[in-house]
Amino acid sequence: MSGSNPISREAVAAAVSEANIAIEAASTLAELRASRASSIGEHSPIAKLNAELKNIANEFKAEAGQLIGQARGQLNQAFAAKEAELFAVEERAKLAAEAVDMTAAPMPVAFGARHPLSLLQDQIADVFIGMGWEIAEGPEVESEWFNFDALNFDADHPARAMQDTFFVEPVEQHLVLRTHTSPVQVRSLLERELPVYVLCPGRVFRTDELDATHTPVFHQVEGLAIDKGLTMADLRGTLEHFARIMFGDDAKIRLRPSFFPFTEPSAELDVWHPGAKGGARWVEWGGCGMVNPNVLKAAGIDPEEYQGFAFGMGIERTLMFRNDVKDMHDMVEADVRFSQQFGVNL
Ligand code: PHE
Repeated sequence: MSGSNPISREAVAAAVSEANIAIEAASTLAELRASRASSIGEHSPIAKLNAELKNIANEFKAEAGQLIGQARGQLNQAFAAKEAELFAVEERAKLAAEAVDMTAAPMPVAFGARHPLSLLQDQIADVFIGMGWEIAEGPEVESEWFNFDALNFDADHPARAMQDTFFVEPVEQHLVLRTHTSPVQVRSLLERELPVYVLCPGRVFRTDELDATHTPVFHQVEGLAIDKGLTMADLRGTLEHFARIMFGDDAKIRLRPSFFPFTEPSAELDVWHPGAKGGARWVEWGGCGMVNPNVLKAAGIDPEEYQGFAFGMGIERTLMFRNDVKDMHDMVEADVRFSQQFGVNL
């Protein structure tokens, strides 16, 4: 054995420290992995020493091989440790970035509010559903026959006049925008099995200008009960119950003789409104009466066998006096601040 090992302990130590510096220098996983070839991989100082092994004298090979092998082991460990450390750092940063602060104040979301007319309509429907009635609907563009003829209006009844009713062109079609919900009475009788107890809320149209108390588009709710042996007493009882739920236990009703072509006898319905601002008072609420035999006949029903009553009232009008809304404009202008006064109730 002569001379010293050309792959010296110092040379290996120098290769290790060079690689360690490169490993330590990496501040991200991506950097560490990108430098793998030059720190511990094929272009690293230790790989270069390893490549020289085959050129040195056999007597030095075992020692040099051992030195290089140990050095490689250390470096691989150092690399893996650094890799685990950087992975943990990056994972923590990612979790921190994705964390949700459960205590943070929520972003304010502006809620709309249901329109008081829809709320009132639903509330009225609930009263009747509670008594076992059904909800019926009909079209807003209605045939003149349902809107007038079947309801016993004379051909020259003033309500048919162009100045009160929206006719749909061409007029020969005999279509109108329904002027009341009463056509749903006849539709319900044609569509349903007797007895019939239906409530028909819906939109109606008249050629009125929009002002504080009128609007060309408004809502009515129609009630119709046809059964064997119904009398005016049933009408009264039903309306009184309805009035008490709408206006409180002290509410009562009063019927004044009136005229509608589709009821006989007919009455105007007033309600005693105990909660009125400025003191309890009578308020005109709607129309009602016993269904005219001619209407039953138009629906193919024998008036000797079945009788009944009908009533109808305006929902806007009800809201106005019940909730002291002074101006119809507020109901049609869709300002959410108006609706919110009645509760959000979505
Ligand atoms: N349809 C009538 C109106 O619009 C109201 C009414 C309905 C009257 C049912 C009697 C019976 O004025």
